[in-house]
Amino acid sequence: MSEVASVLFGREIIRRRVEELGRTITGDYVGREPVFVTVLKGGAVFLADLIRRVDLPLETHFLAISRYGGAEESMGRVRLLLDVDADLTGRDVVLVEDIVDTGLTVSYLLTVLHERGAASVEVCALLDRSVRRIAPLQPRYSGFDCPDRFVVGYGLDYRERYRNLPDILSVDDLDALTEDPQALAPLFAGLDP
Ligand code: IMP
Ligand code: MG
Repeated sequence: MSEVASVLFGREIIRRRVEELGRTITGDYVGREPVFVTVLKGGAVFLADLIRRVDLPLETHFLAISRYGGAEESMGRVRLLLDVDADLTGRDVVLVEDIVDTGLTVSYLLTVLHERGAASVEVCALLDRSVRRIAPLQPRYSGFDCPDRFVVGYGLDYRERYRNLPDILSVDDLDALTEDPQALAPLFAGLDP
């Protein structure tokens, strides 16, 4: 294992937690047909696993956004690049996110989804880094509390890399990764066949 990063949540722990979340959501939405909306690209891996653990008729839709600068500089000012191509009026929406950090992105998206006439919108975040929260929000469903470390894998990227790592890694030496964005490449050698 490289010293640049270490496994924070392994694939088996993730699998079990996603299964639990799916079961909880199934119970909470029984008799309804929820619309799962995720934010490209980070949420896509989690969404794909989560919906296969939800035993209900459901729809999936995607949003894409761009930020003006970093999350903090932009104070949540984001622009929609891709909108949901469905009528959300009266629908129960589950907004699926990879990680809620400052919460600025999610609070913007909650406004957008409510404006679309959704009957309800609940947030399902795989990771909740509540120590960095700026917008006052608490995801209804969350997989794990995330420490104040940059994380990659299972959909989460560093400069578009590492979304395909099956585990979630905490980056312990961000300077090393900044210097060499490929620094975690040796980890792929340990992947299961
Ligand atoms: P927020 O608006 O600060 O809550 O930012 C949330 C978004 O920032 C997430 O959807 C991620 O795309 C990205 N993000 C935040 N923290 C990390 C991280 O540790 N690794 C990778 N992406 C992150
Ligand atoms: Mg994201």
